[in-house]
Amino acid sequence: MSQARTPMRKLIPLGLLAVVVLIGVLMANPRQGYAPKQPILFQHSKMAAEPDWQTDASGNEVNLGGYGIPCRYCHTMPYEGRHSTLPSTDICMNCHSTVGQDKEWVLVLKDFWERGEPIPWIKVHDLPDFVYYDHSAHLNSVDDAGEPKLDCVDCHMDVENHAVVEVQTKFNMSWCLDCHRKPEMAAPTDCVTCHR
Ligand code: HEC
Ligand code: HEC
Ligand code: HEC
Ligand code: HEC
Ligand code: HEC
Repeated sequence: MSQARTPMRKLIPLGLLAVVVLIGVLMANPRQGYAPKQPILFQHSKMAAEPDWQTDASGNEVNLGGYGIPCRYCHTMPYEGRHSTLPSTDICMNCHSTVGQDKEWVLVLKDFWERGEPIPWIKVHDLPDFVYYDHSAHLNSVDDAGEPKLDCVDCHMDVENHAVVEVQTKFNMSWCLDCHRKPEMAAPTDCVTCHR
């Protein structure tokens, strides 16, 4: 009797181990690729990307790119504060009180504005609360020649070419540390830097 049960007893811990390993693998990287559906389809590729003028089949000049709007026109304060900000509806309305009045999502934007309701954007890059992060420390850091060490692209990749914002990096502890450890970054690596 007991001989028949032994293989089962051995299998249960093995099964548990497999589950634990699987959860570990999933938890190790919960963020890369995260791209929540936003309340308005706001496309960086149409706003922030460089213009790309082409001649279409009927000989008209059409812009297949964006409008080259600088990141900081919409994301203010990354130089001063811990957090970068998302644009208020007023910033959108600087243009959209007149521009794009025939576009579906521009009409949704105007509805929010007319109701005086902020747009409930969903945060895409979101570190756990126990991690200390500061945009300004990164964007103000300069090398020996006085050149900024980092720009948005170093951490957010080519957002401007994407229709939907997606976490394009590993965005976990080793992602932070891999960069902090580079000699040219001269960034601190002790635990209290990020866990205060
Ligand atoms: C015309 C305004 C506008 C411009 C210009 C713009 N953005 Fe955005 N950005 C937004 C809005 C609105 C959102 C929130 C909606 C979303 O996440 O898709 C956003 C979201 C983001 C996010 C994700 C924020 C989060 O929740 O994690 C990043 C990163 C970002 N933008 C970076 C950039 C960079 C880098 C540039 C310049 C290359 C840029 N943006 C240019 C309006 C803008
Ligand atoms: C500096 C001017 C400017 C600002 C600021 C701006 N936009 Fe636009 N947006 C444009 C232009 C130009 C177009 C293209 C309109 C067209 O093709 O008729 C456009 C198009 C759009 C479209 C339609 C895209 C499509 O082709 O369907 C949406 C949606 C949109 N914007 C949302 C926003 C939101 C949300 C904000 C604020 C976060 C914003 N825009 C800020 C200039 C701006
Ligand atoms: C060193 C890497 C790094 C650089 C450089 C960087 N970011 Fe970020 N960004 C992050 C991280 C990490 C977060 C998530 C912060 C959090 O959840 O507390 C973030 C979040 C954001 C957000 C969401 C709002 C917030 O602050 O949580 C926006 C918008 C954003 N970044 C825009 C930008 C723009 C625009 C630039 C360039 C001017 C830029 N970032 C440069 C790493 C970076
Ligand atoms: C692409 C490179 C890069 C990435 C990725 C990066 N950092 Fe940094 N970090 C730096 C640089 C450069 C500095 C500034 C070093 C200096 O000038 O002292 C810095 C400084 C900091 C500081 C400020 C230390 C202080 O108080 O002066 C904190 C906190 C920090 N990083 C946290 C993070 C966290 C958390 C992440 C990941 C979510 C991260 N960093 C990702 C390059 C990076
Ligand atoms: C440059 C920033 C940075 C430094 C330095 C850093 N951490 Fe982290 N740590 C993070 C980030 C970001 C996370 C969140 C990772 C996630 O949720 O994917 C994290 C998560 C953790 C966790 C939670 C478990 C996990 O892996 O998600 C522990 C424990 C931890 N760190 C311990 C440490 C210790 C111990 C040190 C010093 C040897 C240290 N960290 C140094 C950024 C840092």
